[in-house]
Amino acid sequence: MIQRPRGTQDFPPEQMAKRRFVENSMRVTFKSFGYSEVQTPTFEHLELFTAKSGEGIVDELYAFKDKGGRDLALRPELTAPVIRMYVEKLQMDPKPLKFFYFGNCFRYDRPQKGRYREFMQAGCELIGCDSPAALAELVALAWVLLKNVGLKNIVLRIGNLDFISRVLDNLNIKEEVRKKLFPFIDKKQFDELEVFMRKEGFSGEQIGSLLGFLNCSDVDEVKGFVDDDNLIKPFEEMLSLLPTFGIEKYMVDTSIVRGLDYYKGMVFEIEVPALGAEKQLCGGGAYDLVPLFGGKQVSTAGFAVGFDRTVVALENEGYSFPEERLRAYVVPIDNDSLPYALKVTMKCRELKIPVDVDLTGRSIAKSLKYANSRKAENVVIIGERERETNTVTVKNMETGEQKNVTIGELLNVLKG
Ligand code: HAM
Repeated sequence: MIQRPRGTQDFPPEQMAKRRFVENSMRVTFKSFGYSEVQTPTFEHLELFTAKSGEGIVDELYAFKDKGGRDLALRPELTAPVIRMYVEKLQMDPKPLKFFYFGNCFRYDRPQKGRYREFMQAGCELIGCDSPAALAELVALAWVLLKNVGLKNIVLRIGNLDFISRVLDNLNIKEEVRKKLFPFIDKKQFDELEVFMRKEGFSGEQIGSLLGFLNCSDVDEVKGFVDDDNLIKPFEEMLSLLPTFGIEKYMVDTSIVRGLDYYKGMVFEIEVPALGAEKQLCGGGAYDLVPLFGGKQVSTAGFAVGFDRTVVALENEGYSFPEERLRAYVVPIDNDSLPYALKVTMKCRELKIPVDVDLTGRSIAKSLKYANSRKAENVVIIGERERETNTVTVKNMETGEQKNVTIGELLNVLKG
């Protein structure tokens, strides 16, 4: 038996219905914030992803050579591709540009619950405006997006990479060393960070100062470490606008450093406690990629939501997804009734009513059983009597009630 590759997923109909339901909700929310949908290729030149992160990232990618010897990679995310598209053809468009997307991503991660090698992201990029209000709107979009799909308990944390850069500058910590500190900070392993810094020869004062900063939980505390109004003021202004945009609750978290290398300035993450270990559902912030891809400097910010995790989070929170059911299953009792049954079926389909018809010729008892398994709301039975009187017999599968009605009446019932 051939099985699906490790870290990939199949989506049977019930699962797919949930995914489409969530996707539709998200699409409506993105549009309500003035965003337009875009799509980019599933694979890109490998260079697009190594340009910022270096060759080291290749281990985490599905990278390959095509038959022409080109180095390509399946996309691990969509920010770099969308910015590539912007630089390639949209630089002259009036700003701000607001793009959203859904797309499958590929990472050579170690698969576990909630962590896949192929997964889907829903995300967006805002190009050409980074005012405090614009960044507040972006964070609010992530919040509203997840609230609108029906999640009850989400936790929003907001930070700013300029703050930690300033603190590390003040402590005279060099770029190469910073790179080694960030994984500890990203995972909030502060004890391990302390041990590491001791080994690297940092003084107790330096370590205490960094840990003190990382434990800040509001802007006033941050001010004790970052004495620069040019950095603090816009951040404060952004935070002050969040309630107006409908954000009920958030935390300032100075230890957010994000996994990808392109961020600078405001960053944020949203977690869902109901997800357990892999609870991070959304991440984003302001970043810099346009000049790296040969474009003219412009502000950029965005976020992406783990789509697969969103569906699991809703299931874990006990969300009741609407069921996709057949409105009717049409059963011709004998072969002579087939053309009439097909006519009735096609009339329903003209009105876009989801119906199906038995084409196997099996017994009515078996057809009823099958209709039940498909969760059909009604069964429409057609035999000689119905054909002669130009009617149908419709059985409501919930109440068991059976009625003889005209085709017009049937369509009215099914439409309703
Ligand atoms: P990211 O934090 O790497 O950010 O991914 C965003 C979300 O994708 C994560 O919070 C998580 O829910 C989901 N995710 C990541 N890896 C996996 C995986 N292996 N399996 C399942 N879900 C996963 C980005 O990708 C940035 N491009 C976000 C962004 C957009 N920043 C600015 N614009």
